[in-house]
Amino acid sequence: VLAGRVLPLTVAGQSFAMSRFVIASSQGDYQVRLSEGLNDLIESNSIFIVDRVVSKSEFVLRINPERLILVDGSENTKTVAFCCELLEELANRGVDKSSSLVAVGGGSVQDLVTLCASIYMRGIPWTYVPTTFMAMADSCIGGKSAINVGNYKNLVGNFYPPESIRIEEKFLETLGSVGIACGLCEAVKIQIARGPIEFVSFDDLYSQYQSHPSPSALIEIARLSLVVKKWFIEIDEFDKKERKLLNYGHTFGHALESASHMGIPHGLAVGVGMLVANSLVTSTGYVEQINNLTKNILLQSGFDFSSLHVKADSFIKSLKLDKKNFGDNQVLVLLNTEGRLALDVQPMRDENLLEQADALMKVLSSLKGS
Ligand SMILES: NC(=O)c1ccc[n+]([C@@H]2O[C@H](COP(=O)([O-])OP(=O)(O)OC[C@H]3O[C@@H](n4cnc5c(N)ncnc54)[C@H](O)[C@@H]3O)[C@@H](O)[C@H]2O)c1
Repeated sequence: VLAGRVLPLTVAGQSFAMSRFVIASSQGDYQVRLSEGLNDLIESNSIFIVDRVVSKSEFVLRINPERLILVDGSENTKTVAFCCELLEELANRGVDKSSSLVAVGGGSVQDLVTLCASIYMRGIPWTYVPTTFMAMADSCIGGKSAINVGNYKNLVGNFYPPESIRIEEKFLETLGSVGIACGLCEAVKIQIARGPIEFVSFDDLYSQYQSHPSPSALIEIARLSLVVKKWFIEIDEFDKKERKLLNYGHTFGHALESASHMGIPHGLAVGVGMLVANSLVTSTGYVEQINNLTKNILLQSGFDFSSLHVKADSFIKSLKLDKKNFGDNQVLVLLNTEGRLALDVQPMRDENLLEQADALMKVLSSLKGS
């Protein structure tokens, strides 16, 4: 399948090297703009909601403090309670329907601002400047919000895309190796979901990044990832069919996050989840290629997998609570023998869950032992 390593110049009919492209949405098309600078945003009269971790960046230092709201980029920020605080703050500042918001941060700030922009005065425009690699390569498009309620992560949400997404490599300079690896795991997941040729395109760019690591090499990976994710979003905007394939690795990844008491960052957990999913299917040369590349990303992150303490019964308990379960069935995303991902509905039998927990333990011990 992988003969002839092709780096497509066009994906989904659009040039791959462009600095702008459009995402079609029933709620209004929106633009992704890469490496164009952010001067026009500074000059706008928007209210900026910024992750305080990037408050010393050159861009944020130029924002008029009267138009700046600093927030923590964390799970505690994307809560219903904090949304209410932010909405009240916007009202106190006199924000009205002629105003707009600019969110600057990772996926946490994105989730918060997506929901707040969508409901404030029944919706005001917003722009997103992603600052983590995961957000640049994956979450910034698609328009979803996901808000935590009590102990329930991502329980409520909606779809409300920004008017534009502005990706700038400067923000990558302060991210550590774990943050980069989280984005790489999500990016390779998108490519695998689309098919073997797209996986090869990722493999090529990842090899280039490994030989010459740089923020600009990461931006090329983000660009490829977004152009391919665009196909899923446009064909299935509201997550009914094709877009569900982007949940590859997520059933096991989420269960690992819960069973380890959030001891592993989400992107890395997804990478581990992909390895677990692959160990449940017939091994082929393609599956081995995916495993080698994913393992390489996980190990290059420098994350200490031996620090993870996961009990099989906690993992199984979390699997039983997976939001994708349907009645007494698990809905898994698994590779078929043609190298395509497909939904696989399996009865939630003890022997299946034990096999999955066993597979997780084997994957974790291979990562600890490397
Ligand atoms: N809405 C969606 O479509 C979608 C998709 C995937 C994930 N998510 C959500 O995104 C969240 C995770 O987002 P994330 O991985 O971007 O992490 P994050 O936003 O939680 O940020 C992680 C850490 O990185 C810091 N940070 C942000 N930018 C930085 C920079 N440039 N340099 C150094 N540190 C920086 C943050 O302050 C934080 O401490 C989760 O809550 C997840 O549920 C949403």
